[in-house]
Amino acid sequence: MMVRQAHHVPQKTRVVSGMRPTGKLHLGHYHGVLRNWLKLQEEYDCFFFVADFHGLTTEYADPSVVRDSTHEILLDWLSVGLDPAKAVLFVQSHIKEHAELHLLLSMLTPVGWLERVPSYKEMQQELSNRDLSTYGFLGYPLLQTADIVLYNGQKVPVGADQVPHIELSREIVRRFNHLYGKTLIEPQPLLTETPKLLGPDRRKMSKSYNNCLYLSDPPEVIVQKVRSAITDPARIRRDDPGNPAICLIFDYHKLHSDPSEVTRVDRDCRNASLGCVEDKKKIAEILNAFLEPIQKKRSELSKNRDYLDEVILKGGQKALEVASQTMTKVKKAMGFQ
Ligand code: TRP
Repeated sequence: MMVRQAHHVPQKTRVVSGMRPTGKLHLGHYHGVLRNWLKLQEEYDCFFFVADFHGLTTEYADPSVVRDSTHEILLDWLSVGLDPAKAVLFVQSHIKEHAELHLLLSMLTPVGWLERVPSYKEMQQELSNRDLSTYGFLGYPLLQTADIVLYNGQKVPVGADQVPHIELSREIVRRFNHLYGKTLIEPQPLLTETPKLLGPDRRKMSKSYNNCLYLSDPPEVIVQKVRSAITDPARIRRDDPGNPAICLIFDYHKLHSDPSEVTRVDRDCRNASLGCVEDKKKIAEILNAFLEPIQKKRSELSKNRDYLDEVILKGGQKALEVASQTMTKVKKAMGFQ
């Protein structure tokens, strides 16, 4: 509660999160991130942004994917139900304070702290086809820190792999506050249990594996992708009993079908009364029924470009208001003003 405003209502906890624009969104994003954001926007004071500067850390050689997917991602967000009346939605690069705070924080951030973040070496190895020995890539988690503290983020919804980034943010905030007086807020990770969604080839659903069910896939594409799925490799003939526990189609059922349907599929797969071909047809129908309203909304929104522009503009204004307050404090603490 703020002291100066006696009648101020208790503030909701501030949540900050971003998503890199590296292509259109798929079911893995939906279950891994968006579903959680939809819940968070009801309970918290949320700031969600398209992290296009972060996109550049890996896509700098050809930034077109960053540019092209920024609007696509915002359309996807709105289509699944993220609501600009509930959450502040904006584009990172529209708020130049991200860059400014990143620079100021870089002055007090030891290089060793960045080098020891586990994702640094891992990603460099994973994406060995690009030169990621850049200054910007090393600074990825520092820019992420700037993103969070700029908006006084208290909770950051992340998967387990990003917890070390938030740990780093906390260390940097402590160092800043120790050097210049208490100014910035230490964020905490908001750990979310997310199901790991497999693509039809049984690998993690990911653009780089080319195995994604996209939110924008038309019905016949979903049917065809699902038809190609590898189910239980041990179930060779139609009358072999199957094992739903290892079947990715059954995972989709658990996420998308009614509990009674899940029970039925589990039973009928195990006793071989349900075949994979039939079951795939069924799940494709269920997925298409899920995607239909999302795609309908998306096509309405894409016809109305002014609306999207307004969402971005308004979200940016709200973001800027908070960001500039933080920058005023930061500069004052560091002795600029
Ligand atoms: N690093 C996040 C990702 O890989 C994206 C991101 C950028 C982010 N800035 C952030 C997440 C700030 C949370 C808070 O998806």
